[in-house]
Amino acid sequence: MMHLELFSTYALALVTGALAGPSEQLVARQQPFKSTAITDHSEPWAFAFLPENRILVNERRGNMRLVDPTTKAKGTITGVPTVAYGGQGGLHDVSLHPNYTENSIVYVSYAESGSGGAGCTAARAKLTLNANGGGALSGLEVIWRHSQKASGGLQFACRMLFGSDGALWISSGEINQMTPAQSMTGNLGKMIKLYDNGTAFAGNPFASQGAIQSQIWSLGHRNPLGIDWDAQGRLWEVEMGPMGGDELNLIEKGANYGWPLVCEGKHYNGTNIPKHSTRPDFKAPKANWVPVISPAGLIIYKGDLFSSWKGNAIITGLSSQQLVRVTITGDTAKEAQRIPMGKRMRGIREDKEGAIWVIEDGANGRLLKLTPN
Ligand SMILES: *[C@@H]1O[C@H](CO)[C@@H](O)[C@H](O)[C@H]1NC(C)=O
Ligand SMILES: *[C@@H]1O[C@H](CO)[C@@H](O)[C@H](O)[C@H]1NC(C)=O
Ligand SMILES: *[C@@H]1O[C@H](CO)[C@@H](O)[C@H](O)[C@H]1NC(C)=O
Repeated sequence: MMHLELFSTYALALVTGALAGPSEQLVARQQPFKSTAITDHSEPWAFAFLPENRILVNERRGNMRLVDPTTKAKGTITGVPTVAYGGQGGLHDVSLHPNYTENSIVYVSYAESGSGGAGCTAARAKLTLNANGGGALSGLEVIWRHSQKASGGLQFACRMLFGSDGALWISSGEINQMTPAQSMTGNLGKMIKLYDNGTAFAGNPFASQGAIQSQIWSLGHRNPLGIDWDAQGRLWEVEMGPMGGDELNLIEKGANYGWPLVCEGKHYNGTNIPKHSTRPDFKAPKANWVPVISPAGLIIYKGDLFSSWKGNAIITGLSSQQLVRVTITGDTAKEAQRIPMGKRMRGIREDKEGAIWVIEDGANGRLLKLTPN
């Protein structure tokens, strides 16, 4: 056994040595999976699997790519809306309509300029692929917007996820405005539940209060960059705290998660923020990180390929340059493992076979397929 492990490590070093520098070899040796690089991208933010064994990749400057993972060809999708590139903003998430095979509708979220600065916008459009490895979006329709814009280009978030009831969820960041996350007259710093056309979903907890309020499922969020369902149909969310206080939350109907009134971290100027324990009326995170991991994406693993990870949260970390694995038992969550990736990690999705795909952040961010060794 010992010899086999030594041999495989040596073989891996030989293989990766042709392509990578010494630090990448070291990182690869510490990873409990095989990592296959598919394509590289300019500042990728998100990706989505198409049924035709193709992958859409969003690059932050406003380019959507069509990747063929078999040939590693990388085409272009035209018709992407103009994005406000700058700070943390640009082209953000991409998600397929649950009936994509019938209607070819995809959703994009992006930073949009306007009065006061930029805010996040979500739109849907029909995707038509062409014979040249590319395609086009047409009939683009804005279905949702942040209720205010702000300068600075920070904390847009805006992941999009469909639920089994056909609802579209948007994790709305507070664009660094803080107190609006507690305000019911705006949709910043909230979890939003809509129909596929952007109308507020029936039965939302604050529907009786007004039009904006009717979109809101939960409040008090800062920069919620990752959302996913667990096998029981519960919604989990990761959000970045300020200096410390990144959170993994279990999202409950009508709940207030406390930002900016409580947090396990501090403000960037060192000022203390009251801890969650001081305000039991707010939902406390199920796990939190001081110092930060900078969570940028989340899956709750459901496949069989990594069988011992079933039901675990797998979180991509930007500043931590790690995948952080968290076990979930009932209502509790506990960090179990940190896997070094050697690069800031941005997006994450699981494919139908249970392989985990991740995408790096930055100038030459690679789309990687992770499979068991
Ligand atoms: C998808 O199609 C099914 C069958 O036509 C329909 O019942 C369902 O409402 C559709 N989902 C959405 C989100 O429109
Ligand atoms: C949006 O979809 C919902 C659910 O299908 C429907 O009740 C509503 O009328 C639609 N709104 C618009 C403006 O089309
Ligand atoms: C520190 O930063 C917070 C958040 O921006 C602000 O509310 C607070 O006034 C600042 N404190 C000092 C002493 O500058």
